[in-house]
Amino acid sequence: MTNSDKPIYTAPGNSEKIALLKKKNEEALMGGGEARIATQHKKGKLTARERIDLLLDQGSFQEIDKFVVHRAKDFGLDKEHYLGDGVVTGYGEINGRLVYVFSQDFTVFGGSLSETHAEKICKIMDMAMKNGAPVIGLNDSGGARIQEGVNSLGGYADIFYRNTRASGVIPQLSAIMGPCAGGAVYSPAITDFILMVENTSYMFVTGPNVVKTVTQESVTAEELGGASAHSTKSGVTHFSCKNEVECIQRIKSILSYVPQNCEETAPIYPYELRVDETRKVLDELIPENPNQPYDMRDVVAGIVDENSFLEVHENFADNIVVGFARLAGRSIGIVGNQPQSMAGVLDIHASTKAARFVRFCDSFNVPLLVLVDVPGFLPGTDQEWNGIINNGAKLLYAFSEATVPRITVITRKAYGGAYDVMNSKHIGADLNFAWPSAEIAVMGAKGAAEIIFRKEISEAENPEAKLQEKVDEYTEKFANPYRAAHRGFIDEVIIPSETRIKLIKAFTMLENKVDQLPRKKHGNIPL
Ligand code: HXC
Repeated sequence: MTNSDKPIYTAPGNSEKIALLKKKNEEALMGGGEARIATQHKKGKLTARERIDLLLDQGSFQEIDKFVVHRAKDFGLDKEHYLGDGVVTGYGEINGRLVYVFSQDFTVFGGSLSETHAEKICKIMDMAMKNGAPVIGLNDSGGARIQEGVNSLGGYADIFYRNTRASGVIPQLSAIMGPCAGGAVYSPAITDFILMVENTSYMFVTGPNVVKTVTQESVTAEELGGASAHSTKSGVTHFSCKNEVECIQRIKSILSYVPQNCEETAPIYPYELRVDETRKVLDELIPENPNQPYDMRDVVAGIVDENSFLEVHENFADNIVVGFARLAGRSIGIVGNQPQSMAGVLDIHASTKAARFVRFCDSFNVPLLVLVDVPGFLPGTDQEWNGIINNGAKLLYAFSEATVPRITVITRKAYGGAYDVMNSKHIGADLNFAWPSAEIAVMGAKGAAEIIFRKEISEAENPEAKLQEKVDEYTEKFANPYRAAHRGFIDEVIIPSETRIKLIKAFTMLENKVDQLPRKKHGNIPL
């Protein structure tokens, strides 16, 4: 054959090249194929791309690494490739603000994490760090890509490492929208907020089968690690959402309260101060009987902008209430004892819940409002043996180290060590207010009288009458805010209905607060 007989190779023209690209794009959009997409829908789950569409402002998503494929060769994987390799990654906007997102695609190898899948996630995390914007992870994965062995484990560790480096620099949110098991749980655990979808998601270190083998317990995946278990028992998840749409809405609403990164402040919503910002309802809120409960969320509602309270950890440790709100359009974080549950006592769960929230707010320049009605720390062997000492200390440490504007309002009880811990003046609060109903003392009047007048009471002709007399004496002396106000531990005793306006003025005054910690590598929080 001569040279002239050879067929002449004609390079594809531009239109063919573009057509090829379009074909590849279409292929990538199909993930693991129609049948698997149908199975995903049958389970009541959206696909990775449908979730991104719901999450981001329309048309804002810019995908990265759409054509990445895995490099594995074992167990027949060299013959099975899907463009994108089981995770959709990129950036886009939520309410006009930049975010980075990865969304695991369960239709491709069960969303399992390969080396390349991990590389894609790491790439957008690195970009998010450089450009100072939140990362949102939509998790739906069978865990480590079993065929890849240690390559996959290494990929996980690369992500954990970045989660840790990014902690406190950019907000990180994890939505669990399917399985999340084994060591995979530790990436969400390091991030700032976890959201779970009821009945279709679960998280556990070991699944029901291993549990059965090791502990002989029979438990379903949902019981062991579903949204209900983690929102009520373990506190691992901050939000339990009825469905995926609610979960995605919740992500957007969390972001509306927080800044893009630790150097910025949260967006300010337009708010025009009204002529009358008093809230009369607050004057009637505290019951006459100091042992009668009330709902601290009613106090919150009487202070913050209408319908602006977003409660975090709503179903966990409900003896303390935490969440975001807006005050005259500005974002604040609220921590409040809840007299309606266990009289608002501080226990291990309440302390760690509040401490974690305080740490988040301080990391991201969200000022703190602390509402106090606390009878003390919960006594008992259960609490002592499980470490109420170092867990309670976490909250003390978190408040003490926080440099954001911090304001306290004591609505009723502030007893004992819990008075100190709940953002007292002594641990660096900027302004401490008290309502006239405040009782600031070492302990409740009855307990105090029984201890300091024990002898006198037991020797009295009528011990009961004597006890009452001493209780009244102690109450008169200490069950009020004035002793503390005399010392300047309380800056002002305020009329409850004026709390909102006082706080608006106070937070505005503190807007440019500068406070720095002593130079150190990092503190040693009692973990
Ligand atoms: C590779 C996987 C996979 C995995 C699922 N698939 N998990 N492929 N590696 N880890 C594939 C399946 O082969 C199947 O492929 C498709 O994904 C869907 O899986 P199904 O089993 O059909 O789905 P479902 O019945 O909904 O069950 C989902 C599941 C189950 C509960 C997640 O697949 C499962 O138990 N997978 C293994 C989980 C696991 O043990 N992972 C390792 C954990 S250890 P086809 O082709 O049929 O669609 C770990 C360590 C991390 O992750 C350590 C980090 C430090």
